[in-house]
Amino acid sequence: MSKQIRLAIVGCGGMGHRHLYGLAELHRAGWERFELVGACDPVRDNAESLADQAATHFGASPTVVENLDGLAALNVEAVDVTTTPRYHHTVAVETLGRGWHTMVEKPMGLTVRACNLIACAAEGSDAILSVAENYRRDPINRLAKALLDAGVIGTPRFLIHHAIGGGDRMLISVWRHQKDQSGVLLDVGVHHSDMMEYLLGDIETVYAKTRLHEPIRKNPAAGGGEAGSNPGGVYGRWQVEMPAEFEATAEDAAYATLTFKNGAVGQYIEDHAGRGQGVWSRQIYGSEGSMSLPGDRSGGNIILNIDGESPIDDEKILEYVPDFRLDAVTSDLWGEDRLWRYEFPFPEIDRKIIAIEYGDFAQAIAGEHPVEVDAAQGTRSVAVSYGMLESGEIGRIVTIDDMLAEQVDDYQSEINESLGI
Ligand SMILES: NC(=O)c1ccc[n+]([C@@H]2O[C@H](COP(=O)([O-])OP(=O)(O)OC[C@H]3O[C@@H](n4cnc5c(N)ncnc54)[C@H](O)[C@@H]3O)[C@@H](O)[C@H]2O)c1
Repeated sequence: MSKQIRLAIVGCGGMGHRHLYGLAELHRAGWERFELVGACDPVRDNAESLADQAATHFGASPTVVENLDGLAALNVEAVDVTTTPRYHHTVAVETLGRGWHTMVEKPMGLTVRACNLIACAAEGSDAILSVAENYRRDPINRLAKALLDAGVIGTPRFLIHHAIGGGDRMLISVWRHQKDQSGVLLDVGVHHSDMMEYLLGDIETVYAKTRLHEPIRKNPAAGGGEAGSNPGGVYGRWQVEMPAEFEATAEDAAYATLTFKNGAVGQYIEDHAGRGQGVWSRQIYGSEGSMSLPGDRSGGNIILNIDGESPIDDEKILEYVPDFRLDAVTSDLWGEDRLWRYEFPFPEIDRKIIAIEYGDFAQAIAGEHPVEVDAAQGTRSVAVSYGMLESGEIGRIVTIDDMLAEQVDDYQSEINESLGI
């Protein structure tokens, strides 16, 4: 085995723990590229919890530290930044400046300006920067992309993305409902922005109406009540301590029209306050047919409808893309290199997809290929999500180019001010 990369996880809350499980999954698949030497969090309890669990996976405990100086003493070569979004740029700018390879969770930065600061630090550093955007790495989304690239539905004309549900329930944590900490339209929306660009290429313009429908959010898990939204099952112990009810300051719904550079149009609804019937729908219509995608990380199958043919919802879909192969890490994790559906409990799906992120990061550090989601794409996804919020604020269409150039920031300026950037 070649020399392992000395890694630290910075931010040991819910996603820090989920990343640990992803790293262990990667190693179990035979890709033992990292040695976890540090667990860093100003909340020592969280870092200790991660270190204890790491010992059960790797047989050795990483050193617990409270800040980046503590990591320097451990000769760290790479960090995985899973802090709350407010700290992504402060941590990543410093780690890149120290020459440490840096993988940062989505959203890459809390605002477009925060992303641009990270991108600038990455440009001035020899270290690799990777954005841990997971949804696109789902093998079913890889298949969707292969079908589109093969022209199976012809020229893409129209995308529908609708996600509706949530009522007045807290989504995982209080900070996800606070404008200055990453509201839900950024926290969740940035995944969808990345997916839309992954599938159909660059988004050019956005026009949106945005709303804060539910200014009071409720946490059913407070004080040990019923379980709340808890992906991966790791958040319960923190949710117990969070208030039963709190004020939300970030918008919770966006209704938007998007245009893509390739001429396609998108209709986007992301409503985290939806009551009644929940909706999930991602459909793409082209000049020769349409495809309907399953929820990300669900393992469900794509339904393909080609003009004049019966709908295809089984393994025959693979016949349309004979050259489709999953990358080596994904194939090792799933045990197959061509997949049209899969079935695992969510925590296992979650850690397998996080393992792919780590695999990509390790291969990029080794010079085997560039990272898949780089600073430019990470920033674009943040710009598209804020494009909706900016458009909702100023009541007009915005271009993503203007967003990237920080020409439109009426909505974000208050957040930038609070960050001191
Ligand atoms: N890709 C996904 O599917 C997915 C899912 C959940 C969360 N996330 C992302 O992961 C990140 C963390 O989310 P979470 O759910 O784990 O939040 P969390 O609140 O559970 O944990 C955040 C942790 O970061 C720590 N922290 C804060 N500032 C720090 C600093 N300067 N240095 C070190 N540690 C610091 C906190 O003490 C806490 O332990 C966010 O960016 C979030 O958007 C991604």
